[in-house]
Amino acid sequence: MPISCQDKSQLRNLMKKMRKEHHPLERKKKSETICGKLVESTGFGQAKTILFYYPKSDEVDTLAAIAASLEQKKTVCLPCTDRKTGVITACEISGLDGHNLEKAAFGIPEPKPGENTAVPAQKIDLVIVPGVAFDLHGDRVGHGLGYYDRFLTSARKAKKIALAFDFQVVNEKIVCESHDVTVDEIITEKRHIVVRK
Ligand SMILES: Nc1ncnc2c1ncn2[C@@H]1O[C@H](COP(=O)(O)OP(=O)(O)OP(=O)(O)O)[C@@H](O)[C@H]1O
Ligand SMILES: [Mg+2]
Repeated sequence: MPISCQDKSQLRNLMKKMRKEHHPLERKKKSETICGKLVESTGFGQAKTILFYYPKSDEVDTLAAIAASLEQKKTVCLPCTDRKTGVITACEISGLDGHNLEKAAFGIPEPKPGENTAVPAQKIDLVIVPGVAFDLHGDRVGHGLGYYDRFLTSARKAKKIALAFDFQVVNEKIVCESHDVTVDEIITEKRHIVVRK
């Protein structure tokens, strides 16, 4: 049965279900491949300041790529989310252990608040974008709260690379709204889709 891309919330629910049913070992193996491809990519090589996302259990695991970035002395940021305003601030981290991070909104580890680590969105060279579904034009469906759409609007100079399992990329065009921000590239375990250079 073809997947319907006319309705973002229907597509979101289907993909979230598929991601949940995805075997943890498969997820781990694919995430390693995807992180390897990201670290080898031109976009990553050229970026000095990167905003990653901290992976939830069913998403592409970014931790290996974060570790590689820290080793290469890049400036690594993770989102600090403000649930009242729906705004993401990029905050620099110096490592991935408990001294640097604590569980925050949605149970996701974030840089500790109160430390002066905020990096202006205009200074970010590369945003590693999470998502629930993508199409071949770079259209994206997230969790439906608009956090990334808002953030990406303010990070205009940044290259936007999405990481996804291959089944999350649909062939049919996703029907998006005017506030939806597209990504420039999508890396899956099988493909590196470059929408625009
Ligand atoms: N740039 C924006 N400015 C103001 N509100 C916005 C903006 N972008 C999105 N929103 C709000 O967020 C809501 C959810 O957006 P959407 O359904 O596109 O989320 P999403 O892209 O799936 O989620 P996310 O970006 O959090 O992963 C929209 O209905 C809209 O009201
Ligand atoms: Mg959106």
